[in-house]
Amino acid sequence: MTNQKGGVGKTTTVANLGAALAGAGHSVCLVDLDPQANLTTHFGINARSLKRSMYDVLLEPAALTTAAVMVEPNLTVVPATIDLAAAEAELAGAVGREQILRDRLREADLPYELLLVDCPPSLGLLTLNALSAVEEVLIPLQPHFLALQGLGSLLETVELVARRINPPLRVAGVVFCMCESATKLANEVMADVRQFMAEARGRGKPWSEAVVFETAIRRNIKLAECPSYGTTILHYGPHSNGAMDYISLAKEFAAALGLKAPAGQAAPEVQETAEPTPAPPGQYLAQAPAAPENAAVQAPAAPGESAPPAQ
Ligand SMILES: Nc1ncnc2c1ncn2[C@@H]1O[C@H](COP(=O)(O)OP(=O)(O)OP(=O)(O)O)[C@@H](O)[C@H]1O
Ligand SMILES: [Mg+2]
Repeated sequence: MTNQKGGVGKTTTVANLGAALAGAGHSVCLVDLDPQANLTTHFGINARSLKRSMYDVLLEPAALTTAAVMVEPNLTVVPATIDLAAAEAELAGAVGREQILRDRLREADLPYELLLVDCPPSLGLLTLNALSAVEEVLIPLQPHFLALQGLGSLLETVELVARRINPPLRVAGVVFCMCESATKLANEVMADVRQFMAEARGRGKPWSEAVVFETAIRRNIKLAECPSYGTTILHYGPHSNGAMDYISLAKEFAAALGLKAPAGQAAPEVQETAEPTPAPPGQYLAQAPAAPENAAVQAPAAPGESAPPAQ
């Protein structure tokens, strides 16, 4: 999930699309490759209690599975901490520095059907590592007048990585996030993007087969609220527009990628965590409360149980 533009919905989409796919029976691993660690925080993972994170995976190197934290059935997060900010500088002189994540993934023989990587808002070394390691790129876009700004450099980067490092790399899809679809401007921008992608058909570009997903994620305040409860929209607001949109996107996404939920997945090896602690109600939009010592996971609120009242 990448777009060097900040705040377009990358992390929200990785978390909630991942949760919706996990809920549909797919075995999903979410990798936080952003030193901001927003995805890690989204799941209420307490960075201070972690023995290993993506920094160790890239720099030590530690096996990717030893840093994984299971947050829900079928859903695992490989967390990041602020340490990851140092990785770009520390790896700058390393031979093959763009391909370290790819090597870790190959070594790990991961027991997941799907891996979603949350990229930082830059086209730096961390994003290059993600592009070198994966097969498909998903681009979240916000349908306003600056939506296409930067898309050119992103596509150029994808093309370059595909040519030099990772030939199978392709843009699988574009997803519109934070949509106010009633506005004329949003509709015009969405039409422009669809036309741009349609014009690339058959031109042998990595984005020539890209799907512009029909499901546009509407602006929904519950999506912004759920990280402060350390959980996803499926638990926090199961009947909200946000939940409906991400469930619908997950269906489209699974169909577009030809995913079939396999039966009897092997249980992944995960970091030890203490008993999860429910987020206290009333932490509306607050920072995720610190988990007790050694607790790495905030409990997801059970549907309809500890979810706070609608605002
Ligand atoms: N559909 C939505 N409705 C309302 N708020 C949203 C929606 N999607 C995301 N947000 C909020 O918008 C902000 C930016 O979203 P998010 O963190 O997912 O973007 P990002 O692309 O990952 O940002 P960054 O580039 O900093 O990593 C967050 O506060 C998030 O909660
Ligand atoms: Mg983010």
